[in-house]
Amino acid sequence: MIKVYPKFEEDLLIRLFHKGVKAQWSAEDVAWDDPLLLTAEQSRALARMLTPVYLGEQSAMIGASVALPQMAMAGETTAQIYLSSFLMDEARHFEVLTRLYQRLGTDPLTIREMPEMLRYHNRLRKGDRVDWVWGILISDIFAKNFYQIYAKTQPQALFGKLSGRILRDESRHQAFAEHYLKTQIPVLPKERRAVLMDMKDDLMFIMDSMYSRLDQDAATVGMDGRLFLDELRAEIEHKARRIGIDDEPRYPDGVKRLVQGFGSDVRQQAHDLGSKFQALKSSKCDSCFVALLCKSPLFRRAQCV
Ligand SMILES: [Fe+2]
Ligand SMILES: [Fe+2]
Repeated sequence: MIKVYPKFEEDLLIRLFHKGVKAQWSAEDVAWDDPLLLTAEQSRALARMLTPVYLGEQSAMIGASVALPQMAMAGETTAQIYLSSFLMDEARHFEVLTRLYQRLGTDPLTIREMPEMLRYHNRLRKGDRVDWVWGILISDIFAKNFYQIYAKTQPQALFGKLSGRILRDESRHQAFAEHYLKTQIPVLPKERRAVLMDMKDDLMFIMDSMYSRLDQDAATVGMDGRLFLDELRAEIEHKARRIGIDDEPRYPDGVKRLVQGFGSDVRQQAHDLGSKFQALKSSKCDSCFVALLCKSPLFRRAQCV
């Protein structure tokens, strides 16, 4: 695993590592006397809503310590160097959020109150370093969107300022994960990419059930929980396509439902036809794709006549 003099280039990961080193800060740099600008009820709601993010910070720190030796084993020198700064960032976020809870004067939710948190973090631990980077990207996007709400709406409040600081770190994490996955995904077999898509669906499903418990708290802090999760899902799905994890053709919603109702042979035909649909997509003509599907013998037999 250890190499005395590994060859490596000054790639994006090394540049992100340098940025991370220069941008270090700690709980000692935070003005803890800044106003909360929250009522007691809103503080309690924030404490509850923040819990999955808080646990995510700790989980990211621990997960990086597992992925780092795997990267060393694979000879990914710049990734292991970068990940050392990632680990430090997540440790810092874990520390400052712990201090924030003390300032809010209220505890986070327990695992007993929200058992889905354990399911989420167990799901993140399945697979190898590539699965972990994908899972951590999903978690980072989730955390980023949550912090952004406060950084934008309460820039003068303690949590708003803290969110702004954390977001700068998270932007490096996202750049790392995208870059790393873009180099790994092209050499993965199709079945492995399907496993990554399953992981995305599992994590999103667990997030949905976590936040279904927090409807009331979201309302208390003036947040639309459903909209938040819908936008999150759209962003993660966009990311999956950009990185190359999801290379399935995009169908209109009506066609997606139609295809899901059939067996794998029909779905395969729909998939093959999907590439033709890409060419038609610019016309925004859903019926064009339906017409194309209907030319398939299996579809004609099953649905279109
Ligand atoms: Fe973080
Ligand atoms: Fe992160």
